[in-house]
Amino acid sequence: MIKLVICMKIGIVCVSDRCSRGECADQSGPAIAECVHELCSAPEYRLVPDDAPQIQSVLKALADDVGADVVFTTGGTGFAPRDVTPEATLAVIDRTAPGIAEAIRAESLRITPRAMLSRAVSGIRGKTLIVNLPGSPKAVRESLAVVLPVLEHAVETLGGNTQSCGGNYSHV
Ligand code: MTE
Repeated sequence: MIKLVICMKIGIVCVSDRCSRGECADQSGPAIAECVHELCSAPEYRLVPDDAPQIQSVLKALADDVGADVVFTTGGTGFAPRDVTPEATLAVIDRTAPGIAEAIRAESLRITPRAMLSRAVSGIRGKTLIVNLPGSPKAVRESLAVVLPVLEHAVETLGGNTQSCGGNYSHV
């Protein structure tokens, strides 16, 4: 049997003051890399503090210079004073993709009521889909379980291929 190999360019951005100061190791970025391994064996990884200009700059670089199909951020989506990942994301996207953030929150709420404390957003810059994820490895795995089943089709349509839109898609 022939196995189709899907190859995407994926960016992973860990947003964390503590990790960027070297006070702790990022565990969520590696958790994302593990989850997307079948789609991308060598994701582009970046680590930035909770600082809107730096988050914006890294998102722009991954979209415009690297040409990532998808960028996942992790962290900075909560209510803490320095949590600004959603605002930084909204500042760089051309179009919102609210269904992704809505679906992640809806499914996550079945696991923990704390899911409502994530202000994560998702959107499109050029041909790059940017998806905010919360900042724990557990939340990352739970959120990606929601997104991964539609990612290939999302990237196809971003590239202008809408031929398979009428097909049947099973959920997780
Ligand atoms: N979503 C899922 N699926 N699982 C979780 O454990 N944790 C929540 C929420 N979303 C959680 C989740 C918690 S406790 C917080 S505070 C917010 O995400 C924001 O997290 P962040 O500030 O690390 O981005």
